[in-house]
Formats: sequence, structure tokens, C-alpha cells
Amino acid sequence: MADFIDDLLRRMSLADKIGQLNHPGIGADTTGAGTAAADIETRIRRGEVGGLSAGFGLERLAALQRLAVDHSPHRIPLLFTLDVIHGHRTVFPLPLALACSWDPDLVRRTARVAAAEAAAAGVALAWAPMLDVARDARWGRCAEGFGEDPLLAGAFARAVVEGYQGRDLARPDSVMACAKHFAGYGLAEAGRDYNAVDVSPFRMHNVVLPPFKEAVAAGVGAVMVGFHDLAGIPCTAHRQLLKGLLRQRWGFDGLIVSDYTAIAELVNHGVAADAREAAFLAFTAGVDIDLVSGIYLDHLPALVAEGRIAAAEIDAACRRVLRAKFRLGLFSEPLRGLDEERKDAATLTPEHRRLAREAAAKACVLLKNNGVLPLARAGGVIALVGPLADSRANMQGTWAVAAQPSDSATILEGMKAALGERGTILHAKGANIVDDPNVAARLNLFGETFAIDDRSPEEMIAEAVACAGRADAVVACVGEAKEHSGESSTRTDLGLPGSQQRLLEALHRTGKPLVLVALSGRPLALEWEDRHADAILHAWFGGTEAGNAIADLLFGDINPSGKLAMSFPRSAGQCPIHYAEAPTGRPIDKIGIDVAGDAEVYGDGRRVFRKFTTACRLEGAHTPLYPFGHGIGYSKFRYGELVLDKPALRGDRDVLTATITVRNIGALPGEEIVQLYIGDPVASRSRPVRELKAFRKVTLQPGEERAVSFDITAADLGFFRAERLDEPEEVCEPGLFRIEIGRSSQQLSAATIEWQAAA
Ligand code: BGC
Repeated sequence: MADFIDDLLRRMSLADKIGQLNHPGIGADTTGAGTAAADIETRIRRGEVGGLSAGFGLERLAALQRLAVDHSPHRIPLLFTLDVIHGHRTVFPLPLALACSWDPDLVRRTARVAAAEAAAAGVALAWAPMLDVARDARWGRCAEGFGEDPLLAGAFARAVVEGYQGRDLARPDSVMACAKHFAGYGLAEAGRDYNAVDVSPFRMHNVVLPPFKEAVAAGVGAVMVGFHDLAGIPCTAHRQLLKGLLRQRWGFDGLIVSDYTAIAELVNHGVAADAREAAFLAFTAGVDIDLVSGIYLDHLPALVAEGRIAAAEIDAACRRVLRAKFRLGLFSEPLRGLDEERKDAATLTPEHRRLAREAAAKACVLLKNNGVLPLARAGGVIALVGPLADSRANMQGTWAVAAQPSDSATILEGMKAALGERGTILHAKGANIVDDPNVAARLNLFGETFAIDDRSPEEMIAEAVACAGRADAVVACVGEAKEHSGESSTRTDLGLPGSQQRLLEALHRTGKPLVLVALSGRPLALEWEDRHADAILHAWFGGTEAGNAIADLLFGDINPSGKLAMSFPRSAGQCPIHYAEAPTGRPIDKIGIDVAGDAEVYGDGRRVFRKFTTACRLEGAHTPLYPFGHGIGYSKFRYGELVLDKPALRGDRDVLTATITVRNIGALPGEEIVQLYIGDPVASRSRPVRELKAFRKVTLQPGEERAVSFDITAADLGFFRAERLDEPEEVCEPGLFRIEIGRSSQQLSAATIEWQAAA
């Protein structure tokens, strides 16, 4: 490969090399800063295009590829790229939903299928996985990532990279993966997309960067840079982050790609006076590929001529692009994946659908159940109501660019198919997703997924209540439209939109058992629902087979097993909220008690609040409504004592085993996700109260008991100290550590161990 690329580079002019760094946009430009798609053929002939979005039919892609390999100066093939975020034509649950499976192997399998389908549609590089740790449910892009925890997200980072890239990138069912958005994008202030992020190197290394490090260790081919600024420096211009940390410290030698028009946006950020300066800043920071700005093409030649950028640096960036194309087999087979017959055979197969159904069921989280679920089939009448009960175009969730709504079953269809002749389903819409036509228009930006009903909210509610009156149980499918989450979809209110809550209140008043199936791309604030519904199944957006999978769960054909990968707040005002909080100087568990009515009552009846602790919350508790790791099923699991095989560890290699027994005391077989957390109560830095360190999923038959063991080494106890982003120091500090094992981040058994450095 090296000789081939050396030879090619020797023959290329500076302009040819810069052409390889240019990745123009096609189709509608949504930001106004992109280069036009116009005249793409001429540009390809001139060697000005390194890659393109694969967002159009195979015939056109094949024609463009032929143009590149037959008529561009060095016959270099184009790199076709696309957002393949949670499946391609077969749509899997949103990444945040998949994360609730706590099942990296499942995610690896979904990624393999996504890669096979995308590759068969001409895609060579997928803009995924998104690895931004997200702790603020207002941020719409939390849907695209794997939740709030760095370890869990890291496990999925590896799974997706391995699933996409396979053993060999040149295989016809592999695509190159791209870890994004480097780094810290998920911590945008107030959850407002594109907003500034100002976090310390300490938090970056302990929270934000671990999933990216895992992706790099797994061999990810590309990294996309975040839109945002990090402590005043836009990531696109962040030399310390890109060159210092990613290239030099971590040794990443794959592609570094800007986000869409992000190089041009350096002018808006206010760090570049003009396009040329933006090109200079981005390139010298380490960005190889200019996605859609067209600025490299226009300005790098002059910057080299002026001596501000060394020609050797252009060579190095171009070499990385050529290497990626070589590894993908594009030089030997430029038309890879551009074959209509292969595409049909590889797409939406029964096997893919089966996996989609399995994944959709494993991604759902049963938040609450007072026994009303699973629903009885025989002879029952079920009122299936709510704006998402029969909403085909909303089943796939955001960022499903190749989805065809007609492929998806709705919940109504799934329920009818599962029930057959054994019972009756009555259906009413009950409410619009939103009632405000302006909001509806925004939510239908990428094509209409729902329409506002002609009837008034009152009429719709009355119809649903009438249905409920004739039923034995009510299943209300409520939540968001698919575009409520995703890019630039920030919410300031995390309740159910529009008149949906009013619908639920009216249904509740009927006195019929009330089951909620909630669909959303983010955690919602469901305090009222928690108090009044008999059961809540959080189904996220589950993709092509979601309707069937939800029916599988509601009727108990599958036992729910998902657990939350992101905390559910009580209200938007609590955001950001996550389980791995710092103890602070006034820890709630030591000084205040975080429950309603938690003031001490003196003998004379006076209520005394502890100043600055319990008294500092004026509305509601500080804790989340449903914590990270929470999720129940139709079985019950009893946890035994936490047992350690020894009390202390010494040095780096020593292993201590912590074991807990878990017994299925329910009547159904079930899966339980057992979680290990570690806390470091005294260290040179204030460490989070607890951090997830390992997890295991066990399947238990009724009455079966299993000892679940975790091996703990110094690697689980350490953390990063970092004053500078590019100079992290990984340390393990001697002392006591708290080991906790249990069913969620708030239901745990604890023990203490000691670690000492080797003598
Ligand atoms: C998003 C990226 C995406 C890119 C290309 C941007 O707006 O931030 O995540 O990969 O567009 O579609």
C-alpha cells in the first residue's frame, strides 16, 4: 500500500492533493455556508472532489464514480459517505435506546447489518458512532449517542466500530466508521445545540474522552470534530485537542474530518476574520477533510504559496485520505457496492427484521408496573389510544436517512397481529403530538410525519375516553415526534408535548388500568405519569420493528430487560443530571435527606430545614425520577450479600473478586443486568460518588440462582489527573475504595476494599 500511495503522491500536483481533502455537499444546503452541488461532474473531472455524500441512487453514484476513475487527473475513486446512525434501510432503535440493552454484542450485530446494507447502497464511510456523553435531556442529540456514562458508551463505541468495519474494510459488507463529535459536544451549555462547552481537562479525560479512546483502540478509521467551542477554542481549530491529544498522544493516524460547514463557521465563532484564516486554523489544528465548506479548495493553495502551511503537511493529509480509500478496496474495486441486484438481496432481509425486532424489545425500559402488565390476551378489550399508536412515519426516530416509513409496523398493527382473534382493540388518536401548527411545521421539516387533526383537543380526548369506557385496560402511546430529538432539536420543557397530558388525565379519571407506552428520543420528565399510570414502558424510537416488539413486551411474549442509559429527571430544571455526581462539600446522603417532607420536626412541631442542603431545594427532590441503570421486568430478582474474596489489593496485577448472588424469584424467565460501581472516597481530586466499572447480563429461569462475579484490578480504581488536555496522567491512588453491586445506580449493596501500590 505504502509504495502505491507514494507513487501516486509523487505524480499529484498540489491542487490534486488539496482536491482529495475536499468533500462538497450535495442536495439542499441547510446552513447557507455550504458549497453548491452544482457542476459536481466538472469538479470531479478536475480532481477537485475527494468524496461525496452517498445520498442518492446507485445509478448516479456509479456514474460519478466512473467519472472519477476514468476522467479525473489520477483516476482516484471517490469516497462515498453517509449518516448511518442506527441502521440503514432496516432501522434499529436509536443509539440511546440501544444503549439501554446494555448489550454490546447485540449492538455489534446491529452495526454489522447496518454496514452490510449501507455498503450495498454504495456507502464506504459512515458518520457514526456518535460518542458524545450526554447528561442533559434538553439536548436533542442525546438520541444519537449512548447515554450519560463513559464506560457504557465506550463498550458500545467498540461494538459499533467492530460491527461497521468488520475484520477487513475491503469486504463488501464493511464500511469505515467515524467517531464523532470530538470532543465534548454533548455537554453544550443548557443543552442548546452547537452551544459553547467549557469543561476542565479533568472532566474531559474522565468523562468525555473514554469512549473516543475506546473507538481509537478498536481501530476506528475516522474521527469527526465537534461544531462547538471548547473553553473558547472551536474544536475545528483546536490544535491541542486534535494534534496534541488525538494524533500525538493517542497515536491516531486515521482521518480527521470537520463537521458539516464547520470550517466556514470558524468565522461565525469569531476566531477567524475570513475564509482563508478559517482554512489556516482548521488545517494547522489537524483537520484533514473539509466537509462541505469548500474552503480548503479555495484557500490552501495560497496558504502553501505564502509558506504558512508546509507542502509536506498537505501530503500527509492527502496520504491519509488515499490510505483510507486503499483500505476500503476502492482502488481495486471503485464500484464496490454499486450494484442494484446485490443491494436488493442485502437489504431488509427477514433476518435483518428479526434482529430489528429483538433489538427493539431489548431497548425498551419498563419504568414502572404495578402488575397490570403483561396484558391478558383472552377475551379482553384494549383501548389503544394516543398520537403515536398509529403513526408509521414516527416509528424510526431521528437520523434514519434511508428509512422508508412503509417498512414499519405501527403499534396498532403490532398489537392487532399479536392479539389476533383472541381479544379486541379499540383505537382513538386522543391527541395531536403537538397542537401548535408552527411547532408541527418545524417537526415536519424533513417530510410530514404527522398532521394536526381538524378536531379540537376536547373532541379528540372525548373520543379516547369513550374508547376507554368500553375497554378493560387502556394503553396510551404518547410522547414526541421523531424530530423532537436529533440535531438542533433542543427542548426547554421535558413533559409530554401539546395536550397529551390532558388526555392522560382524562383517561386516568375513567378508573381503567392505564398503561403508558412512551416514545421519545430523550429522557422525559414523567412525574405526573409516574404517580398516576399503572405501568410505563419507555419505548424510545425503536425502528422498523418497533410496533411488533412493543406488542411482544406488552403481552409478555418477551420479558422486558432494558435499563436506563440516561437518568430521567423530574423536571427540565434539574438538567443536567446524572448519577456520577461529585460528593460536594454538603453531600445529600450525608447531610440532607432527599425525600419529600425531609425537614426535621422538632418536639414543638416546628419544621427545621438543614440550611444549604435540604433547604436548597424548593421544588421537588434533587434526585432523578428514574435513575441511571433502572429498569424492571416481569420477573423479580433477589440480590444476596456482596462477598469479596479478599479485603485488599496490591499493585497493578493483583485481582480481587467481588461476587453477588442473584435469584429469580418471579414466575417467568428473565434477564437481569447486574451493575458494578466503584467510589473513591478519599483521593487527590474529588471523585464522583460512584462510577460504573462493569456490568453483566444474566438470564435466569424461575427459581434459578447465579453467582455473578466481577474481577477488580487497579485499572478499575484509577482516574486521570490532567492540567492540560494533551497531558493526562493516569493514576491509581492508595487507600480505601467503595465497591457497590446492584440492580441500578441507586439500589446497591456496598463493601470497602483497600488498594496499595506494590511494595
Ligand atoms: C452533523 C453530523 C453529520 C453531518 C453530515 C452534521 O450536521 O453534526 O453528525 O454527520 O452533519 O451529515
